[in-house]
Amino acid sequence: MKKIIALTLALMLMVCCLAGCGEKKNENVLTMATNAEFPPFEYLEGETIVGADVDIANAIAEKLGKTLEITNIDFDAALTGAATGKYDVAIAGVTATDERRQNMGFTNDYYTASQAIIVTADSAIKAASDLEGKTISCQEGTTGEQYLLDNSYTVQSFKTGAEAITALVSGKVDAVVIDDAVARALSAKQDGKTVVLDEALTEEAYAIVTKLGNDALIEEINTALAELKEEGKLAEIFEKYELPYDAE
Ligand code: ARG
Repeated sequence: MKKIIALTLALMLMVCCLAGCGEKKNENVLTMATNAEFPPFEYLEGETIVGADVDIANAIAEKLGKTLEITNIDFDAALTGAATGKYDVAIAGVTATDERRQNMGFTNDYYTASQAIIVTADSAIKAASDLEGKTISCQEGTTGEQYLLDNSYTVQSFKTGAEAITALVSGKVDAVVIDDAVARALSAKQDGKTVVLDEALTEEAYAIVTKLGNDALIEEINTALAELKEEGKLAEIFEKYELPYDAE
């Protein structure tokens, strides 16, 4: 009996210790920051964060033998959070750009994207060349916003893409610029009031963000990504969310 009690106590102590350490940095958990305002890559279904990025993140975590823990925050906060190491990764349809590479680490690319234009169905804007002098909305801190600023448009930035398209439908702006697949997903919910123009403004590739120089983690994730691609799992996930994907 005494032995059992002693053993139980010892076990309890061990568990407490492990849990205690875990509070600082739990080796068994992969922490991910995202901005669940980006369908079909990450969005809320009730209280649950779902989407292609979430499925990919879970598949990666499984390969790493870790449990995934997702935090839903503003897009720029997700980037900063991963760059400073507050979170292990940011997975949020993040475009790997040279500018961002200055202060954050990136894994290999996992998806090709571009910026697209959404206009109202009756708009006179038919192409990028019609955008001159127009007011255009976008999501704050994104490559879409950067594109508009670089090209000297009048920009209205919103915390979410949904707000950017609401501004369009209510006549406050003339167009929205946002990632192509997301443009289609958001536009599909506007009851035919909006259309996505068939013109790509940029060429971009999504990758996973880590703290700059976290090469061990980048290496691990790159291996996992390569395996998932090889196994057809990536193609399967993109198909589930009706995302065009060229598996090469
Ligand atoms: N691809 C764009 C960028 O990196 C937009 C990403 C926005 N992602 C999101 N989850 N809101 O800037």
